[in-house]
Amino acid sequence: MTAARTPVVAGNWKMNPADRAAATALAVAVSEATAGMAARIVVCPPTVWLTAVSEALDGGRAAAGSVAVGAQTMRAEEKGAFTGETSPLMLAGLAQYVIIGHSERRQYDNETDAAVAAKVASAIAHGLIPIACIGESADERRAGLTAVVIERQLRAAISRLERIAGSGLVVAYEPIWAIGTGDAASGEDAQAAAAQVRAILAESDPAGADEVAILYGGSATPENAAEYVAQPDVDGALVGGASLDAERFAGIARAAVEAGE
Ligand code: PGA
Repeated sequence: MTAARTPVVAGNWKMNPADRAAATALAVAVSEATAGMAARIVVCPPTVWLTAVSEALDGGRAAAGSVAVGAQTMRAEEKGAFTGETSPLMLAGLAQYVIIGHSERRQYDNETDAAVAAKVASAIAHGLIPIACIGESADERRAGLTAVVIERQLRAAISRLERIAGSGLVVAYEPIWAIGTGDAASGEDAQAAAAQVRAILAESDPAGADEVAILYGGSATPENAAEYVAQPDVDGALVGGASLDAERFAGIARAAVEAGE
């Protein structure tokens, strides 16, 4: 962290919780547990719970704390014959953020670098903040390809942006081998990736690169979060499992706030 950037701590709820009441209760609990924290706190519920969660949080203006809402994916197009998909127009008023290119969508839903490029540009054009996810697999890491994969995925993700400054872009480095495994990356690995991301962004836009929040994701917990946010280029976390527990999620946010002070 550096004091110049506000930390971003986003919870990726994935396909949880199974019912609406549990989703709104979790959102409200997050709002209460993070109240007053000098961080951008985001919860990303499943699409079907976006309306309920947004209403429970009063559109991100909940009294207790201001928690923003993010979608977990969207289609780049505004409308059309895309069965099961969500348009950026539909997210207006419900979500301020949208996760793009999560490795699970790349793996299970065949989301390509080209699709990620279109979605990142579309999100920004529709006033949404994209959290663009990148990261290497275990095999790629073993083959020494971490930096190659990061570069390819990042250059693709920003390829349709005219400028970085003012775009709101957030980048999440999530090594696939660390997601949901308990085998979290080291602080040094996270910093190396984040520094590489910032350097690539700076090639086209040095000032814009300094604005971008770069997150670490992959088995982040309240116990290990301080190690990541202590790194100069890591500005927060994208949290899966630990985001389903409001107190644990708030613990990660607290670590990020303290690192930025
Ligand atoms: P995890 O998930 O924190 O459960 O590893 C992170 C993510 O997939 O965003």
